[in-house]
Amino acid sequence: MSHKIYSIMVTTGDRFCAGTCSSVYVKLVGTDGESTRVKINSDQGLSRDSVTKGSPELVELEAESFLGITDDEWFCSSVVVKTPEGDEFLFPCHCWLSSSEKEVVREATAKLIFQETKTKSLAHREMQLRRCQQEFRWEVYAPGLPEMVESDNALALPPEVRFSFTKEAEFNLTLGSAFIPLKLNGLADNRDSWTNFHDLDQIFVDKKTKAYEYVQQHWLEDEFFGYQLLNGLNPMMIERCQTLPTNFPVTDDLVRSYLPSGSCLKTEMENGNVFLCDYKNLRSLVGKGNVINGQQQYLAAPLCLLYRNPEEKLLPVAIQLQQEPGEGNPIFLPSDSCDWTLAKIFVRNADFNEHELNYHLLRTHLIAEVFAMATVRHLPSAHPVFKLLSLHFRYTLQINIMARDQLMSLEGAITCICPQYTGIGYSGSLTLLKNAMDLLTYTSLCLPENIEARGLKEISTFYYRDDGLRLWDIIQTYVEGVLGFYYPSDDYVQRDSEVQLWIEDIFKKGFVEKQSSGIPQSFASVKELIKFITMVIFTVSGQHAAINNGQFDFGGWMPNFPSSLRQPAPTCKGETTESDILKTLPDVGTTVNTLAAVYVLSKKSTDHYQLGHYPEQLFVEKEPLERMEDFKRRLQVLSYDIKARNVGLPLPYTYLDPENIENSVAI
Ligand code: FE2
Repeated sequence: MSHKIYSIMVTTGDRFCAGTCSSVYVKLVGTDGESTRVKINSDQGLSRDSVTKGSPELVELEAESFLGITDDEWFCSSVVVKTPEGDEFLFPCHCWLSSSEKEVVREATAKLIFQETKTKSLAHREMQLRRCQQEFRWEVYAPGLPEMVESDNALALPPEVRFSFTKEAEFNLTLGSAFIPLKLNGLADNRDSWTNFHDLDQIFVDKKTKAYEYVQQHWLEDEFFGYQLLNGLNPMMIERCQTLPTNFPVTDDLVRSYLPSGSCLKTEMENGNVFLCDYKNLRSLVGKGNVINGQQQYLAAPLCLLYRNPEEKLLPVAIQLQQEPGEGNPIFLPSDSCDWTLAKIFVRNADFNEHELNYHLLRTHLIAEVFAMATVRHLPSAHPVFKLLSLHFRYTLQINIMARDQLMSLEGAITCICPQYTGIGYSGSLTLLKNAMDLLTYTSLCLPENIEARGLKEISTFYYRDDGLRLWDIIQTYVEGVLGFYYPSDDYVQRDSEVQLWIEDIFKKGFVEKQSSGIPQSFASVKELIKFITMVIFTVSGQHAAINNGQFDFGGWMPNFPSSLRQPAPTCKGETTESDILKTLPDVGTTVNTLAAVYVLSKKSTDHYQLGHYPEQLFVEKEPLERMEDFKRRLQVLSYDIKARNVGLPLPYTYLDPENIENSVAI
């Protein structure tokens, strides 16, 4: 029988200690047979005695230890097989192999399950899912909240999804550079109040950013207070107000001097010039503040009314600090001097809680983990949606395990956003997350619908919306292009049992089977699938960048983003002094610990993939590869336009510049 010679190129990945001393063996598996097992670098081509037709389906890789060294792992990135006819086939691998393991990888052409015609490929597909469902198990985080990956600690995760050596080393270095000096100079354990704002200016001097300095200069101004509700760290709270909430009895008499002469609230609401931030999620937590070092902390659940003046400036005009109106809960006004400043500080603290727990932790980190888990459990590597999404979940499982262990636990190592240093505390955090789950809808996760629902389509100077909507469109065009190729009709989506199980799991585990969330339980059309995947990519990339990356810029100047308040909200007017404000703001230790944490969480790692950059080649078909290039080009144009726009701005809005967006939730 004549032998056919196939050449095989095996590539070791570009990772720390990726190489191996082990002997590596390969075997080629085809439709009708398989080759012998051959040691690579043996200058011996692979022969497939009985494989005479069809293309190679699978490659088996096996490493045998050198001199019994068992922990000498090898990171294989891919295998390329060249047939005697000169055709090349890519087999993506991207995994670590230990000497006791055999890894079987399949050819890169994407296939839906009902398109599998080869028994071995189908069996491989099923084997892969069985293995992943063993490796990645769901676990309840807290009843009513999205489920998470079961794992004792980050090191227990499979190596493919763990931080790289570079990422781990840099993270620890940043952590050390932020926390160690504070420990050494005793600030971290100092329980005193700040005696003046000048002292506050002396910390983190070498780490200040331009935006930080801008915030420091302008934090007291009403105009900046309004501005940052649109373009600050949390652009998600504000909405147009068409009728005043019944528990917020702002009268024309109270705010007349802030409106044009002759106008009234009703007219201004009709004209679309009145806006509201309602921190009602915090209502059940008032009076249940945390105790930090024996000292009671206090929370408010404010309502804040804003007016857009004829110069298009958004200005706060009334603040009520608790939800129940009446005596002991005055409506503060800009004319109320120190009371007004203190009222704004309570709003900023409420915003800290909403931002960190609802918009950051729940709506980006925790749901990104749900998407990541459903993907590894239900979509095999040959699935086009797996290929499209897998790099959008890089490092997400590990960063979330670390966040839960170190930030969101009772004995967190990073003593900042953990209960020890926030006014809301551990049980309060869980209550807020549960309250927030009730409002976690599909509509609110889709930016175009979110902006529409909040009545913010027209307001000017809203860079988060402008950049975000363009980004959404670019992602949608890309997803449409790639999925349109694999799903030429709705029928393909309906017959794709894997993608149906994927969305069902997301609905059940991530959105706790809440029908009111509007999250689909199945997909009937290509359009529905495209919309959902667009939302997934937008959420884990752009939305996370918008919510995460400015934490030090906007939170570095503590009075603008206090994590905890030590005095109750004022219940009458005319009694607040500057010294009361300092007594209310976090003490020295709480301040510096929080700042160190937001500094670490805002720092970009050198080991990051910019949105649209996919260094691991998973697709081989021309269409998706072209779409990827087009995606990158469009992102580049957006980046260019954002930079050009920013040139003229006193405070550039950079968070949705694609250059600053990472593919995944990784910090
Ligand atoms: Fe984050």
